[in-house]
Amino acid sequence: MPDRRDRYYYLAKKDNYRSRAAFKLMELQTKYSLFHPGQYILEVGASPGGWTQIITSITGSTVIAVDVNQMEPMENVIFIRGRIEDPRTAEAIRSTMQEMGISSLQGIASDAMTHTSGKHDIDHASSYLICDSVMKTGTPLLDEGAFVILKQFYGDLTAQFINKWKNLFRSVHTTKVAASRDASSEVYIIFTGYLSRSST
Ligand SMILES: C[S@@+](CC[C@H](N)C(=O)[O-])C[C@H]1O[C@@H](n2cnc3c(N)ncnc32)[C@H](O)[C@@H]1O
Repeated sequence: MPDRRDRYYYLAKKDNYRSRAAFKLMELQTKYSLFHPGQYILEVGASPGGWTQIITSITGSTVIAVDVNQMEPMENVIFIRGRIEDPRTAEAIRSTMQEMGISSLQGIASDAMTHTSGKHDIDHASSYLICDSVMKTGTPLLDEGAFVILKQFYGDLTAQFINKWKNLFRSVHTTKVAASRDASSEVYIIFTGYLSRSST
C-alpha cells in the first residue's frame, strides 16, 4: 500500500484545509486569476471541501457545492448531494439559484472523479463522462464571460472533449499542477470567456 501522505498533505493539515486538493486550486488561481469577489460559483465534486474553502474565501459569495458524497457543513455554502449526471441534481441547482435570487453563474469548478480503478482507459473514460455532464448541466447556467475549470484524466478523448465545447468560449487552456501526484495523468481544462447563446 503506497503512502498517500506527502508535502501537500502535511501543508493542508497545518493550514486547516480540508484536503490537499486546495493547493491545486491555489496554483490554478495564481496562474489564471479566475476567481474574484462577488462571483457566484457552482462547484462539482466538492467534498470534503478544500476547493470550497478557497472559493468562498476569494468570492465571499455563497457557493453551490455538489457531490455524490456527504460534505461537512461550511459557512457560505449550499450543499446539494447528488450525481452531476442526475437530472434531479440539475433541478436542485436551478431551484437553489432561484432561492438565492440569481439567474446566472460566473464560474464552474469541477474536481469530480470517481474512485480510480488503476486502469488508465477506464479512469480516462469515466472522467470524460463526468466532465461532459458538468458541461451539459452547467453551461446553460453561465453568465457571459464566465469560466469553467475541470479536472480530467488525460487520454485519447481529451482533444475530442475540448473540440466539442471550445466554441462556447473565447479561449481554452490545458495545464497540469505541481500539487498533483507525480504519476497522475490528471490535467485541468480551463475554458474562459463564455459566449452568450445569442453570440454563438
Ligand atoms: C478529488 S475529490 C474532490 C476534492 C475536493 N475538490 C476538495 O478540494 O476537497 C472528488 C470528488 O468527486 C466526487 N464525485 C465523483 N463523481 C461524482 C459525480 N458523478 N457527481 C458529483 N460528484 C462526484 C467524489 O464523491 C469526490 O468527493
